[in-house]
Amino acid sequence: MHITIISGSHRNPSQSEKIGRYVESLLDEKFDDTEPFLYSLADNPLPLWDQSIWEQDETWVTRLAPLKEQLSKSDAFVIIVPEWHGQVPAGLKNFFLMFSRFELGHKPAFIIAVSSATGGAYPVAELRMSSYKNNRLCYIPEQLIVRDVEKVFNPEPGSNDQRADSYYKDRLDWCLDMLIGYGKALKAMREVTSIHDDRFSNGM
Ligand SMILES: Cc1cc2nc3c(=O)[nH]c(=O)nc-3n(C[C@H](O)[C@H](O)[C@H](O)COP(=O)(O)O)c2cc1C
Repeated sequence: MHITIISGSHRNPSQSEKIGRYVESLLDEKFDDTEPFLYSLADNPLPLWDQSIWEQDETWVTRLAPLKEQLSKSDAFVIIVPEWHGQVPAGLKNFFLMFSRFELGHKPAFIIAVSSATGGAYPVAELRMSSYKNNRLCYIPEQLIVRDVEKVFNPEPGSNDQRADSYYKDRLDWCLDMLIGYGKALKAMREVTSIHDDRFSNGM
């Protein structure tokens, strides 16, 4: 199963990408038959949406083609979102303007929120409220909110708070297994259901 992990921070380096790399290696090593791919929004690889995207501008078509192909073949997503001023970073919201039901529709996504303090709930609520309407991404009920992120998921064990680190890692394991289960179930659902009807191309 192809699983795309989106790291939603524009910072380089970032804590979100640190977790993205951990998720990528966990999926690779522990879960059979998964092909993870990490796409990072570090340094803003996608310019802000503009009208020429809807006019099939050649530059945009070329820029988005490889990512469209990767997203289209994916059966599940992990969306890593840092809390920035109580919001989802603008680059991640911009990402959701670029891709549609044809790449993301009726596929499960698992949210991992990241905070260097005790935040993380706001971006979860924001993604669940306003990022899926037209693309029909299906957020699964489980989410992981990683608080005090600098003390966990570090490659050097000595820099981690051991108790918090094992708790998050165990929980992440459990959630990824569930995401894969949803990935299989929704693939079967897409195969037998008319998920595209051009009369209803956008969600209500
Ligand atoms: C512009 C900006 C705003 C931030 N606002 C918040 C916030 O509202 N709440 C919070 O818990 N952390 C906030 N943080 C700290 C992040 O939680 C911290 O940078 C963390 O490492 C996750 O972001 P990263 O993936 O970019 O590293 C903010 C960070 C930045 C760069």
